[in-house]
Amino acid sequence: MSKPVYKVVVVGMGKRGMHHATTFHANPRFEVVGICDIDEAKLQSAAAQLGNPMTSTDAADLLAKTKPDVFCLTTMPNIRYSMIRLAVEAGVKLIAYEKPMALSMAEARQIMELVRRAGVKTVVSHQHRYGAHYQKVKEIVASGALGRVHTIYAHATGWLLHMATHLIDYMRWYNDGAEAEWVMAQASGRGKLSDNHPSPDYLAGFIHFANGVRGVVEVGAGAPDVPEVDYWWRKARISVQGTDGFAEVLTGGGWRALTRDGAMQGTGTMDYALDMPPYIEDMARWLDDDNAVHPCNGEDAYKGFEIMMAMVRSVVERGQVALPLPDGPPELEELAKVLPEKPVLLSTPENRKEYPA
Ligand SMILES: NC(=O)c1ccc[n+]([C@@H]2O[C@H](COP(=O)([O-])OP(=O)(O)OC[C@H]3O[C@@H](n4cnc5c(N)ncnc54)[C@H](O)[C@@H]3O)[C@@H](O)[C@H]2O)c1
Repeated sequence: MSKPVYKVVVVGMGKRGMHHATTFHANPRFEVVGICDIDEAKLQSAAAQLGNPMTSTDAADLLAKTKPDVFCLTTMPNIRYSMIRLAVEAGVKLIAYEKPMALSMAEARQIMELVRRAGVKTVVSHQHRYGAHYQKVKEIVASGALGRVHTIYAHATGWLLHMATHLIDYMRWYNDGAEAEWVMAQASGRGKLSDNHPSPDYLAGFIHFANGVRGVVEVGAGAPDVPEVDYWWRKARISVQGTDGFAEVLTGGGWRALTRDGAMQGTGTMDYALDMPPYIEDMARWLDDDNAVHPCNGEDAYKGFEIMMAMVRSVVERGQVALPLPDGPPELEELAKVLPEKPVLLSTPENRKEYPA
């Protein structure tokens, strides 16, 4: 018996929208039936590459006309809940959307309550984990070759709402999804509060996981450089440390490990062309079978998002913040009220890139 073909609508035909739409289009399990953007020129050029699906500048209208199974949202983070609600109301089965999943804890909670109630599956684009080098580190950690894992240190030069959402998701994965019990963080620099991914310029924080593992996160202008990696946005490192050794992945520079079995290393870099096809294929698998839960499922992304927002609350409230996070005002707006006007002290000149001097 042939497997069903799932109908897809993609909203937001920028860089990430095209990555998603072209990958859906290339996969026989999906049919891109509609694309949406407020920019007509982008719509026309995208349509030509996607077999000329229906186009619209109005997502609600497109949903009503195409009745898709999958709704893919790849706009900037200022548009999340309103679009997800339209998709749920239109009766989609799966919503695939971009990180960060929201701009506040309250919005993330609203999204999760809505999709849980409606029984809609969600997937958030933390697709770096499909990289062979990311997978190799997972394999080494899972093999037990590091002994008792005690610390996972993750850092990136990109700022909070861009990069911490990735790093914390992979940290949770390497830590077998252990619950976080509390966090504590500090931040500095107001330059990126007005960015489309509003963030402090630099944030450093600790996470206490219930299994005793300590997470350490640094993101933004004060984070260490990763000199082995040239491309600024891929200067990220996640290092898993245990009693018998360590294993680490560099987003743009392979992996290395020192374990009971000796020193090892290998190549690999974040590459959309390699990561997107299996990320999309796993959506078909989950649609076919409720038990084949997508590795980037929304419930896991939500746990990571909560840790990230708890760190912002820690900066605002000072001190340790317990999870689960209670309701509260929008974290980044509160941060803007208290963050002093002080430049970030950089760890290397390399970190000045992309930042106001
Ligand atoms: N997962 C990853 O590896 C990764 C990498 C880069 C970016 N991202 C994320 O992807 C998201 C989008 O980033 P991008 O670089 O593709 O942005 P982009 O600006 O290239 O694309 C966004 C598109 O959304 C359109 N848009 C805006 N409002 C709309 C509306 N109301 N209806 C329909 N379309 C609308 C814009 O016209 C634009 O074409 C961001 O959240 C970003 O963090 C993820």
